[in-house]
Amino acid sequence: MSIKSRIRTIPHYPREGIMFRDITTLLKDPVGLRITIDEIAERYRAEKIDKVVGIESRGFIFAAPVAYALGAGFVPIRKQGKLPAETISCDYQLEYGYDKIEIHADAIDKDDRVLMIDDLIATGGTMEAAIKLVQEMGGKIIECCFVIDLPGVGGSTRLRQQDHPLYSLCSFD
Ligand code: PRP
Ligand code: ADE
Repeated sequence: MSIKSRIRTIPHYPREGIMFRDITTLLKDPVGLRITIDEIAERYRAEKIDKVVGIESRGFIFAAPVAYALGAGFVPIRKQGKLPAETISCDYQLEYGYDKIEIHADAIDKDDRVLMIDDLIATGGTMEAAIKLVQEMGGKIIECCFVIDLPGVGGSTRLRQQDHPLYSLCSFD
């Protein structure tokens, strides 16, 4: 049984017309969780990653164990107002309106080798904002890794066109 086949689809959630790709069925399966973390960690084992950046909230689930497996540090990027120390922030576009994500100003050192992780890429707006934050701090992004790509929404194509290295474990058309 593959990673993809362990992901459940909920039609019309949270709105009419959205096919929600639900990772909880992957996570609750001990083998599913293990093969997902192992596949990501193996891909970056030789890359001398200093920091694994996870994006709130579903990105945290994968980023922290991958950081542990690689012997790297874990850095959270959070929604506005959640981080206690000095932050830098970036606005990004949602389907309707804007949101803001933040990172601690001391989270990334210049020339750190950084792996970016989120559960899913749709429009790419969230990861694009996260990339800006890490680059602003002088981090070198080795790759942006997703469990799920939704290529039909166009985010992965757009980020690749901007020369950002991208990898996904599976995709849903
Ligand atoms: C989801 C998902 C990604 C983002 C992808 O997070 O986990 O972070 O949307 O969408 P995009 O490529 O169009 O930017 P969400 O903001 O729903 O937060 P959550 O992880 O807390 O559920
Ligand atoms: N985030 C944005 N689009 C999504 C989808 N179709 N399923 C799960 N999370 C999402």
